[in-house]
Amino acid sequence: LIAQGAQPAFASSGDHGKHGDHGNHGNPGRPHYSAGAASVGDPYFPDAGNGGYDVKHYDIAFTYDPATRIMDATTTITAVATQGLNRFDLDFRGPEISSLTVDGHRSAFERSGQELVVTPRHDLAKGRHFTVVVKYKGTPPVVTDPDDSIEGWVPTDDGVFVPGEPQGSPAWFPGNDHPTDKATFTFHATVPEGVTAVGNGRLESQKTKKGWTTFVWDSREPMATYLSTVTIGNFTVTKSKTPSGLPIYTAVDPRLVTQSAAAVAQIPDIVEYFSSIFGPYPFNTAGAIIDRAPDVGYALESQTKPIFSSAPGVGTMAHELAHQWFGDSVSLSRWSDIWLNEGFATYSQWMYTEHTGGATVDQTFNSTSNYGRAATSSFWQTVTTDPGPVDMFGNVPYNRGAMTLHALRGKIGDDAFFKLVKKWAASNRYGNTSTAEFIRTAEKVSGMDLTNFFDVWLFQKGKPTTW
Ligand code: ARG
Ligand code: ZN
Repeated sequence: LIAQGAQPAFASSGDHGKHGDHGNHGNPGRPHYSAGAASVGDPYFPDAGNGGYDVKHYDIAFTYDPATRIMDATTTITAVATQGLNRFDLDFRGPEISSLTVDGHRSAFERSGQELVVTPRHDLAKGRHFTVVVKYKGTPPVVTDPDDSIEGWVPTDDGVFVPGEPQGSPAWFPGNDHPTDKATFTFHATVPEGVTAVGNGRLESQKTKKGWTTFVWDSREPMATYLSTVTIGNFTVTKSKTPSGLPIYTAVDPRLVTQSAAAVAQIPDIVEYFSSIFGPYPFNTAGAIIDRAPDVGYALESQTKPIFSSAPGVGTMAHELAHQWFGDSVSLSRWSDIWLNEGFATYSQWMYTEHTGGATVDQTFNSTSNYGRAATSSFWQTVTTDPGPVDMFGNVPYNRGAMTLHALRGKIGDDAFFKLVKKWAASNRYGNTSTAEFIRTAEKVSGMDLTNFFDVWLFQKGKPTTW
């Protein structure tokens, strides 16, 4: 799925016709084939994503043994060419490739950095559906982020913890690693009997044969690559349903069951509460993966199965579940708009705290970690809509982002604010959007000119004083 209105920054070479054969050096009336772009042009991650095609589905099948840390994998990508292609890139940082085919033909490929450059045996006409099969074997890497945190394929003492935001998924499968190209996913993970592999979506089957268990997970709603996970280890699995019938699958490291019990018990209530203010939960299943991955130290809103690297509190659980609407269903077009994900998730967490009898959102807004910070604090010197790759998961997108939403609620009133939030979730469901689109929607729903409001909260440095 390629986002509308999220075109790459580079100029794409047009298609000059429908018939004929190979490259024609600009003759009109004949098709034109060229290389797909090596990136989508996102300034925060200049190599991320690729141009020239739109992935529809990933089928990722592998065997993984935590004892040897060897993965033996076959990833099948189904895509559509969005231009005539004689070459295209995938993002991949994984182990050695033994074979690569395009529509069944062995194809030449080269690797440099995270780019896997594929030259298909036959050119691909614009609009053509094609299938890429990549076989690889070895140990997928840990990826280090601009903020020095780690992601990708992170071994634990009993398996592997797999977070992918913002650039971890190419560690373990080749793909188009940018949120603007969402796709459906199927995972077939084969692990030693007794070990559990937990992926996004629904568990379609779990079969054991000769000491190995294959878990098939199916993610039928479109998903950004960074939200994919297959996290592996010893887990205590619990299956339940929310009062309205949504299936919940939780996998908890047995050593963390007691400490995380309170947060896990709240999942149905959190989902029901957020559904009442944001509109229907966007996916056909919910849950959580709670693991011990001390070197990771953060949680992530992996689609339908947020992952936690230690026992979460109720606030963190609420934060990751709110992301299912904001971030997962409603996604970014550019990473610089990360406040749309983190501000919404943080504000949702504040609202859940108030809902359950804790601090009111007004109190949290005014606290010393938020608006109560001195005007001289360096906190106010980061622009909310451009934190940079190092601080994209720092305080500003989270807290100034949430403050922006609370201030907006005060400015336009509760009725308009909750109408806006519902409309935002509904009209961008499974899509990609932007700050500019948020401002347009807020002005439309409220009927107000919010130029100055958004200017001081989102585009200027400094502590806002009037808005
Ligand atoms: N989006 C995650 C959360 O707030 C945080 C991811 C942090 N990732 C990182 N590489 N620092 O729920
Ligand atoms: Zn978050």
